[in-house]
Amino acid sequence: MLKNGFQTISARQLTGAMGAEISGVNLASDISDAQFEEIRMALFAFGAIGFRNQVLTFEDHYNFAKRFGGLEVHPIVNGMEDYPEIIKMHKPARTAASFGVGWHTDNSFFRKPSLGSIVYADIVPPQGGDTLFANQQLAFESLSEGMKAALRSLTAIHSANDAYSSPTALEKYDGDGPITYKRSDIINEQVEHPVIIKHPVTAKEALYVNPMFVSHFKGWTKEESKPLIDFLCLHAVREDFQCRFRWEKGSVVMWDNRIVQHAALNDYEEYERLLYRITVNGDVLR
Ligand code: SIN
Repeated sequence: MLKNGFQTISARQLTGAMGAEISGVNLASDISDAQFEEIRMALFAFGAIGFRNQVLTFEDHYNFAKRFGGLEVHPIVNGMEDYPEIIKMHKPARTAASFGVGWHTDNSFFRKPSLGSIVYADIVPPQGGDTLFANQQLAFESLSEGMKAALRSLTAIHSANDAYSSPTALEKYDGDGPITYKRSDIINEQVEHPVIIKHPVTAKEALYVNPMFVSHFKGWTKEESKPLIDFLCLHAVREDFQCRFRWEKGSVVMWDNRIVQHAALNDYEEYERLLYRITVNGDVLR
């Protein structure tokens, strides 16, 4: 097992692009400040980090997440009654997956988009239901210098309107299914973020354009914006920028939304899947 330069954890990188499995950590225990700092550094180095064989109560999950910052209560997606910060991502057997399906960056339609999410797996299908991640720092680095310079001058408008008005979203409002939504005026907001953002800790630049929430570029019409958005969204998730996480019962994955896009797969219709997600508040992007 590779230590990868860490003292208190081991990290095994998942692909040439990103992602790591971290071992030597019990997330339910009182993690020392030194070990927590290495976990944070691993997150910023690999974009998404996974832990196997964890046994977490809701309290453990909450306490670990809280060390990264304030926790989000989603304005649209209902959390659990006793833990409003925990979203129960339940997909019953013999239904299609719809939550988090398709490439996106969580809540980029917030003025202060989410820092990242921490997801704990309880019930997993025997196959399928993996989550894909794509490294947006690598996506940026691999563009030409001309394109990088042009993108640095652009601002994108993000909105939740399309995503939360889609047929699969509409079913969840006032519904009694496993995931329910509440109505919020946030879906009418248009929020601006730079197309290229700088990571607040490492200062690395990343592409910040996702197909779920980006509507158009500031000062451009939707028609003018579409060809460039389409190109960037395709480029952003090139196979060689990706890693794929295979869930097992007890897996925990955390990702940094300032580094990655992610997509849940809808390829396990006959099986049940139950994951719990806590999201950490982020800050204004620059
Ligand atoms: C999400 O949080 O976007 C969904 C992740 C998953 O279900 O794999």
